[in-house]
Amino acid sequence: MKFTLEINSPKDQLQAFDCWNPNEIISEFSEVNDSNMNKVLRIHTNQRSVIAKQSRTFVRKFPQIPAPIERIQTEKRFYEEIQKDSELAGFSPRILAWYPESYLLITEDLGELGDFSGIYSQDKKIQQNQIDQLIQYLDQLHRLQPQDFPENLAMRTLNHEHIFKFPFEEENGFDLNTIQEGLQELSLDFKRDEKLKEVITKLGSRYLAEGKVLLHGDFYPGSWMDARKSVKIIDPEFSFLGDAEFDLGVFLAHADFGNQGKEVESALKSNYNNSFDWDLTQAYRGVEIMRRLIGIAQLPLNLTLSQKQSLLSQAKNYIL
Ligand SMILES: Nc1ncnc2c1ncn2[C@@H]1O[C@H](COP(=O)(O)OP(=O)(O)OP(=O)(O)O)[C@@H](O)[C@H]1O
Ligand SMILES: [Mg+2]
Repeated sequence: MKFTLEINSPKDQLQAFDCWNPNEIISEFSEVNDSNMNKVLRIHTNQRSVIAKQSRTFVRKFPQIPAPIERIQTEKRFYEEIQKDSELAGFSPRILAWYPESYLLITEDLGELGDFSGIYSQDKKIQQNQIDQLIQYLDQLHRLQPQDFPENLAMRTLNHEHIFKFPFEEENGFDLNTIQEGLQELSLDFKRDEKLKEVITKLGSRYLAEGKVLLHGDFYPGSWMDARKSVKIIDPEFSFLGDAEFDLGVFLAHADFGNQGKEVESALKSNYNNSFDWDLTQAYRGVEIMRRLIGIAQLPLNLTLSQKQSLLSQAKNYIL
């Protein structure tokens, strides 16, 4: 049976799923509005609440943009790998049910915890113990080398376009002055830097190449939930086997936006025990900083033009 999650779906359709306990009755459900890509509902019953996430052939917020529907299969497989590992299992929600023909995954509800996006406006800080946990998580995750993990190539191709290509094209049709007056002109220095672009192109090919270790693939504050004493990790739909340095670099880039780059760097150097290539990490870090400043996937940053300029120059140094 194929089922489409809608906020106006009749309750008895959800109730008809075979994942409920005896005497478990759905009382209400609501849409989780901060999801961009997928349909996410929180379903309350007389016993608990659960999260239902469904992928479609398009981006939820921008239905005219196509998106690979298999992404939820990757997410489910990733959670399965996590669950098998005693150190990682507690970091992510448990899978409760899976309806492959509907591209629908039902997981444990971690609660309305909130994520770490507040670090961009400096309203929030990642606490030291949370930084340590995020590093511990990556340290353990990057030891996993699951067989036959999905390539997730369609999702990677989508990301590749928005990380390594589009932001650096001079004629991409995206007027950065609509984000901040003067940003378009500022971006030209980087868009016209052939040496820089050559290195970024090579890095992009690495991102698309086959790797060995399991990555989260979207390791940024929107994927970390704040459970106060701990952090929880969700949304692994961009995961794949690749360069561990990609997760590390993205983490550092977002820490830079929150002014916590140095703290994360030192936690990484003392608590991340896998061998890794620092220059490659820095290169991914630099590209992530740049694409968030001059690409389409903008962040709720509170920075002046000159602060953006110095971040962009710093990012260029990281890359070269
Ligand atoms: N297991 C869970 N427990 C509690 N809250 C959750 C859970 N899964 C998702 N959420 C909430 O739903 C929101 C959207 O979930 P998620 O990020 O997985 O969806 P998405 O469509 O991939 O979003 P995005 O487009 O931002 O990547 C999360 O930010 C979080 O607030
Ligand atoms: Mg997502």
